[in-house]
Amino acid sequence: MSIEFYDRNSESFFAQTVSADMSAAQNRFLQHVPRGGRILDAGCGSGRDAKAFVGQGYEVEAFDASAEMVRLAAAHTGLPIRQMTFQDMQWNRYFDGIWASASLLHVPRAELPGIMSKFKRALRPGGMWYVSFKHGASDRDKDGRHFTDMTEEALRTELKAMQDLEVVEIWVSEDVRPNRASEFWLSGLIRRVASASSLEES
Ligand SMILES: C[S@@+](CC[C@H](N)C(=O)[O-])C[C@H]1O[C@@H](n2cnc3c(N)ncnc32)[C@H](O)[C@@H]1O
Repeated sequence: MSIEFYDRNSESFFAQTVSADMSAAQNRFLQHVPRGGRILDAGCGSGRDAKAFVGQGYEVEAFDASAEMVRLAAAHTGLPIRQMTFQDMQWNRYFDGIWASASLLHVPRAELPGIMSKFKRALRPGGMWYVSFKHGASDRDKDGRHFTDMTEEALRTELKAMQDLEVVEIWVSEDVRPNRASEFWLSGLIRRVASASSLEES
């Protein structure tokens, strides 16, 4: 359901988000990604962050499930943005960093473990993964979108069930968009660590 929302409201969503100042979270993430490394922007929306990462010298791939957001993000970034879903992800140990800003929040909670394991698989050991969700404990449908809200405890529980991940930090912040300061976000930085087993899952 959420994807149709973005197809129908692409222009207004683009306008509301393309100039949001995400530099604080971007900098927190980038300090863990080697200079010039390969970053995936998963559920890139406007392409705002993909463009910022390219501007800082990173090699960037980006995708979104919404055809209309892909069109706008490609025009904004000049990158070949792919139209695909998290479910389609097949990368294996490929990225130094994965940026999932406000995108996993549309995955139903029961589907998160399967999707999150695809993110882990796509990261190189040592790679860094940024996630953000709306802060809270609800599972809710609002105006044509599904939201899986997250608390620190719930995120830690999700991650604990997966092997070879280390929480670097989790923090709560206000929305950076004008007039949204009453909305709070839960963000996390998670590192894929080398597996203890020599027969690592791929
Ligand atoms: C709230 S927007 C966030 C966009 C951007 N990352 C940002 O921070 O501004 C959520 C984005 O995730 C995309 N999305 C939602 N579910 C997805 C899925 N299963 N696979 C890929 N993209 C998805 C939507 O199309 C939308 O562009």
